[in-house]
Amino acid sequence: MKEIQSPYNIMVTMVDRLQEHYPNHNERSDGTIQFHFTHEKTKIDCYIESNNDLLQLRNGIAPNPTVTVKSSFYNWLKLAGGKLNPVLGVMLGKLKFKGDLSFFKILPRKFTNDELGIPKDPISKFEKNPVKFWEKPKKVIVLNASPRGEKGYTDFYLKPFIKGMESKTEVEHIYLKDFKINPCIGCFSCWMDKPGVCIYHDKDGFHELAEKMYKANLIVYAFPIYTDHIPGILKNYFDRSVSRAYPYMINGINGVRHPRKFIQEKQSMFIFSICGFFEKKNFNSVREYFKALAHNRHCPVVGEVYRTTAIGLYGSPFHFQKLNTIIRSLEKAGEQIIQTGKLNRNVNKLIHQKIKTTEDDLVKVNQWWNDKKGSKDLNY
Ligand SMILES: Cc1cc2nc3c(=O)[nH]c(=O)nc-3n(C[C@H](O)[C@H](O)[C@H](O)COP(=O)(O)O)c2cc1C
Repeated sequence: MKEIQSPYNIMVTMVDRLQEHYPNHNERSDGTIQFHFTHEKTKIDCYIESNNDLLQLRNGIAPNPTVTVKSSFYNWLKLAGGKLNPVLGVMLGKLKFKGDLSFFKILPRKFTNDELGIPKDPISKFEKNPVKFWEKPKKVIVLNASPRGEKGYTDFYLKPFIKGMESKTEVEHIYLKDFKINPCIGCFSCWMDKPGVCIYHDKDGFHELAEKMYKANLIVYAFPIYTDHIPGILKNYFDRSVSRAYPYMINGINGVRHPRKFIQEKQSMFIFSICGFFEKKNFNSVREYFKALAHNRHCPVVGEVYRTTAIGLYGSPFHFQKLNTIIRSLEKAGEQIIQTGKLNRNVNKLIHQKIKTTEDDLVKVNQWWNDKKGSKDLNY
């Protein structure tokens, strides 16, 4: 169980970090920095001892400290973090120093990302404006993340879209359910122990699938809405993708993110989702989710299909005409996305046409569920 750290433990962490850079620090010198802290009505005395190339934190009072600091623990943290000017700190009575102040030079200065060797990640023109810099994708991968695979409605609506794309380029259709992907356990072994290598590397299908996906210029993520979000198998896939990112943090187009590690120069994604309910708001959370993913994966979203009433449209004779229009529009959408990197307004409108619901429709749906009770018809 994690507990809040004591000031002494925080000092231990600080000194451990300083020690990592100390042997290469130009201003090394032997001596001690004595601290007299107050924290929540208790007194804490400790000192940093510098001896040869080693910095060590010790509890208590040093015999002949080179320099002494007296302050509240918080004020020391502010000083150490560069948020309290030492001169101002002394003038305001927040800090008291005694001895040789120049001895503080033994504490290594802060590093820049460049000095730490953090990869730079310039935002590409394509990421900013994929349509303007669109090139017909040579390879498309459709990742169908419906746990029902070939039997699902996701597959049914996806087929015409794939047909449209296939008339223009090479498309590979993958069923995510065919890959065993363990959920991430959050150990960060892939960032700390063996960078880039997950503990399940050879034990499940994630690595094989991720390598395949990496080669696509356009990735279509297709999935049904499950409890207002993406199905668990797809979330597992995205969580495991953390092993393929750098742990470092940089400023990106839309806030902080990790610098990219594996991505094709002009890789983009298309979101294709269906749901059982009638209102478009059922896609709100996945829409936001993919916006965040696009930023964090440096992979712009170039188009979206969010088809509500997926089962109702398929099953009702009264929606037959609408369903046919939608299917034809999905095929057109497949052609358009490959050629132009976007869907035109008319196709978008037809795919997303609203299905008005009446109380009568809801009664019919409820009757359908009642009819299915005990039917063993799992392939609905
Ligand atoms: C576990 C589960 C949760 C679902 N949650 C939602 C939901 O929150 N909103 C919604 O509109 N439909 C929901 N649905 C309905 C599915 O989106 C719908 O059945 C879809 O057609 C399933 O696609 P598939 O046949 O490819 O599996 C859910 C279905 C399942 C099995």
